[in-house]
Amino acid sequence: MRSFNTIKETRSFVLNQREQGLTIGFVPTMGALHPGHISLVERAVKENDVVICSIFVNPIQFNNPEDLKKYPRTLEKDLEMLQEAGCKAVFVPTVEEMYPEEIHKNYDFGALANVMEGAFRPGHFNGVAIVVHKLFDITLPHRAYFGEKDYQQLQIIKALVRIENLPVEIVPCPISRNTDGLARSSRNERLTSEMRSAAPFIYKILNEAKSMAATNTAAEIISMIEQNFNKHPLLKLEYFSIASGNDLQAVTGKISEGDMGFIAVFAEGIRLIDNIQLI
Ligand code: PAJ
Repeated sequence: MRSFNTIKETRSFVLNQREQGLTIGFVPTMGALHPGHISLVERAVKENDVVICSIFVNPIQFNNPEDLKKYPRTLEKDLEMLQEAGCKAVFVPTVEEMYPEEIHKNYDFGALANVMEGAFRPGHFNGVAIVVHKLFDITLPHRAYFGEKDYQQLQIIKALVRIENLPVEIVPCPISRNTDGLARSSRNERLTSEMRSAAPFIYKILNEAKSMAATNTAAEIISMIEQNFNKHPLLKLEYFSIASGNDLQAVTGKISEGDMGFIAVFAEGIRLIDNIQLI
């Protein structure tokens, strides 16, 4: 596996692959890799001639400086995991390489960016869109792989591709979970053992919401979730929303096909998100 720190080397590698007529699959990450990330890489390996990944903890998408500071960094292990999964090249830039000057770009994703993660993490999706657009420019992929774990991010990236007419196919990948149901996340590593034991409650309650969806209104399901968290000793609910999987706008009343439940929870300051298709 090749490893590059500069844009120039990375571009020259991908241009060379493209000149040979090879297809390029791209998996952007912030490192601290786990089997969820690797499931994206393995899918990309199956569907493309060459897979390139990026590892970059993107400072402009962190609205909480403490979260950025504490973001786990495990580069050596990450590189081993990528190589094993069949990744051919990895781009690991510094902040200066990605952002040599101040950035002023402001994307307008309309209502898509104003709800849920967009509402609770101001500026987050603009920072994600800026870095992903830059990474696409650098790695020139035919296809790029994103997890449904960050469902709203996936919708934002699809919108970015439409708005900017980017020549890349966005491939959504299912959520990878631990055996106890907790969605895999780099942030899980920071949970205390007490919080780690409590966290599978999130997926359990999402499934309870799903089991109510055919016969209950959105308001009834939301109230069930809120009551459960009100009495939970460890986990603190930030939001639970029911929204259409297409435009992410809130559903009131009856649940229809394609509607989803989205949740964000704090476990002692560590923020966990998850989602589920309700019907
Ligand atoms: P990161 O959190 O490292 O995630 C990289 C990719 O892995 C994202 O597409 C994310 O949705 C996916 N992923 C993470 N956990 C997953 C799981 N349990 N199951 C399936 N997919 C999972 O998301 C980012 O980085 C950044 O915002 C990035 C897109 C790299 C831009 O900086």
